[in-house]
Amino acid sequence: MNKVLKITLLVLAGAFLVIQFFRPTFSNPPIVPGQTIEESANVPAGVQMVLARSCNDCHSNKTIHPWYTQIAPVSWWLSDHINEGRGELNFSEWNTYTAKKKAHKLEEICEHVESGEMPLNSYLWLHRDAALAPEQSRMLCDWAKAERAKITVE
Ligand code: HEC
Repeated sequence: MNKVLKITLLVLAGAFLVIQFFRPTFSNPPIVPGQTIEESANVPAGVQMVLARSCNDCHSNKTIHPWYTQIAPVSWWLSDHINEGRGELNFSEWNTYTAKKKAHKLEEICEHVESGEMPLNSYLWLHRDAALAPEQSRMLCDWAKAERAKITVE
């Protein structure tokens, strides 16, 4: 029994080492001047701080990759979320969106933070300080509504 346990642990340790060679790319796509939400919408400093702390890792090209997020299998799971998150909403490419898309995304931002869907729960597990206090959700939501109101969509 003892021997079986030892072999199992060795195999697991070996597998853990081997998967470390399969690294997702950690480089952030370039930020093109003029495309960011900060440059193309009114984003007050307080909102920018909340976005930076709670959203930008998955919804911008400013992802911060601390060492513990670079260890497989966490790295695979996180890079999936980053790719998917950027695909849905990328604050660094905001100005490439049509007015209609911007309006829609602003509505979604309010809905997703009010429902507690964002930031993803699994992310908060590693980034506890990214959790939104109720006043921060409200601030994001009020901001998103105010920006939404400025956009005319025909
Ligand atoms: C760990 C990565 C991660 C973080 C952090 C994160 N998101 Fe997301 N977000 C995703 C993923 C993945 C999706 C797509 C799947 C889904 O909707 O669950 C998504 C989807 C969304 C959508 C839906 C877009 C649409 O059109 O349906 C909105 C809006 C959104 N996120 C806003 C936010 C906001 C605001 C924050 C910060 C308060 C945030 N997210 C934090 C990963 C993340």
